[in-house]
Amino acid sequence: MKSTLSFLLVCVSLLVCVTVNGADPTDGFTLVPLTDANFVIQKPYDIPLEQRYSFKDGVHRLWVYADDKPLDPSSNTQPRTEIHIAGLDYSSGVWHFEGYGFVPNGTSGATVTQIHGAAHGNTTIILRIYDGNMRYYSRNLIAQNLYDKWFRLNLIHDVDGGIVSVFINGEKKYQTKDRGPGDLHFKCGVYAAPANISYYMESRWRDIKIYNKC
Ligand SMILES: *[C@@H]1O[C@H](CO)[C@@H](O)[C@H](O)[C@H]1NC(C)=O
Ligand SMILES: *[C@@H]1O[C@H](CO)[C@@H](O)[C@H](O)[C@H]1NC(C)=O
Ligand SMILES: *[C@@H]1O[C@H](CO)[C@@H](O)[C@H](O)[C@H]1NC(C)=O
Repeated sequence: MKSTLSFLLVCVSLLVCVTVNGADPTDGFTLVPLTDANFVIQKPYDIPLEQRYSFKDGVHRLWVYADDKPLDPSSNTQPRTEIHIAGLDYSSGVWHFEGYGFVPNGTSGATVTQIHGAAHGNTTIILRIYDGNMRYYSRNLIAQNLYDKWFRLNLIHDVDGGIVSVFINGEKKYQTKDRGPGDLHFKCGVYAAPANISYYMESRWRDIKIYNKC
């Protein structure tokens, strides 16, 4: 009787704790195992990888210059050095990218994370850093003062519900409609915006994880 009561009390206090502190964005998700083959790096086509990317102590560092070439000679896109999470394209369910990002002061007009693919257009969401702030494309403000510090990003795409959510440091900062289902995948790194870009762009990423819910 006494132990049942204690057990109940522990349960209630745990519940209160979770409610007060807020749930973690990963709650209810299943971790999808990743191997090196899931990390495909895109970079200016005429330059060796090690001149735009390094991986040390678990940290992916990616950089690019405004006058670099695109990823392919036949492409007319802006320069980029990006990790493409390959082999995990999705078109339904709920998919979730988690990573710790770092953007050095000075990098501006750079997409640091995106969901590539959509029914309308090439992307579902673009998260760009301008002057230390994160924006949805070049528009809505998502988070401020992100230069020179590690931040935790959780980007959740509910394809069936048509909703994308952005969490920074565990806090929900932004939610928007997606742009229709498609052949979808996550990317992170640096991809120059069409305008207002710094000459040098860099972001670093560690502890990249993919989760889903089917
Ligand atoms: C970024 O660098 C500029 C120029 O050196 C400086 O004025 C600014 O305070 C720095 N911002 C942060 C957040 O460190
Ligand atoms: C999609 O990307 C291609 C180049 O990869 C570009 O030519 C096209 O204009 C883009 N479409 C939209 C809607 O942005
Ligand atoms: C570029 O910056 C200028 C001046 O701050 C601003 O008026 C313009 O809207 C920006 N363009 C884009 C595409 O963000």
